[in-house]
Amino acid sequence: MEFKKFKSELEASKYVAKIVIDKIKANSGIKLGLATGSTPVCLYAELAHDYKTNHTNWSQVKTFNLDEYDGVDYASDISYHKFMKDELFNHVNIDTNNTFFPEKECNFDKFIKEEGGIDLQILGIGVNGHIGFNEPGSTENSQTRIVDLTPITVEVNGNKYFDGELDKVPKKAISMGLETIMQSKQIILLAFGKCKEDAIKKLSDAKTFDINFPASILIKHPNVTIIYDEEINI
Ligand code: PGA
Repeated sequence: MEFKKFKSELEASKYVAKIVIDKIKANSGIKLGLATGSTPVCLYAELAHDYKTNHTNWSQVKTFNLDEYDGVDYASDISYHKFMKDELFNHVNIDTNNTFFPEKECNFDKFIKEEGGIDLQILGIGVNGHIGFNEPGSTENSQTRIVDLTPITVEVNGNKYFDGELDKVPKKAISMGLETIMQSKQIILLAFGKCKEDAIKKLSDAKTFDINFPASILIKHPNVTIIYDEEINI
């Protein structure tokens, strides 16, 4: 696992955007694993900006999102489908038929395998070490499934996206499992801000998989880069 520190979220996001763009240029049909949340917003803005100025061709790119709230209307403001459209898909020439999310009725893990697997997976990290919505207690071989969000995740999401109204935060989600994330050929995890410092410290100290800190599974992957900003002192 390689750790790379940047002066700011913007610099870090520009660096990762260049990696993504170069990979699309080298492989027009690349399969990208994508994350939602505040962390990748700047990265997606950089990718949108690149499309506007350089017209990198996304028409053959396929994307697989990590998660979605359970039972939400995909058009609603809180849905991750809508987030992805607003932040990225509406700003590049991706074919929306090539954008996939975990769904109850579909065997997402099998589908990803049949598509050839994820070439590059972008991850954020929760303060409790979740990746996707694989909360503490997620097993190494976990697959796409409905998960209960932990109280800390509900609280963090409630404060960030629901004006602190925790009763409005969905309590369940559908998440790609740890096993499928680990099958990605390359993984880049982004973490910005002081609130992620403890999680990144814990990740850098990890020696083995700790079921109570799901991101620790990444130490077993051969190609992981942790990208973080100066607010995180490790
Ligand atoms: P955030 O969420 O990007 O909104 O901080 C990350 C996560 O919970 O995985």
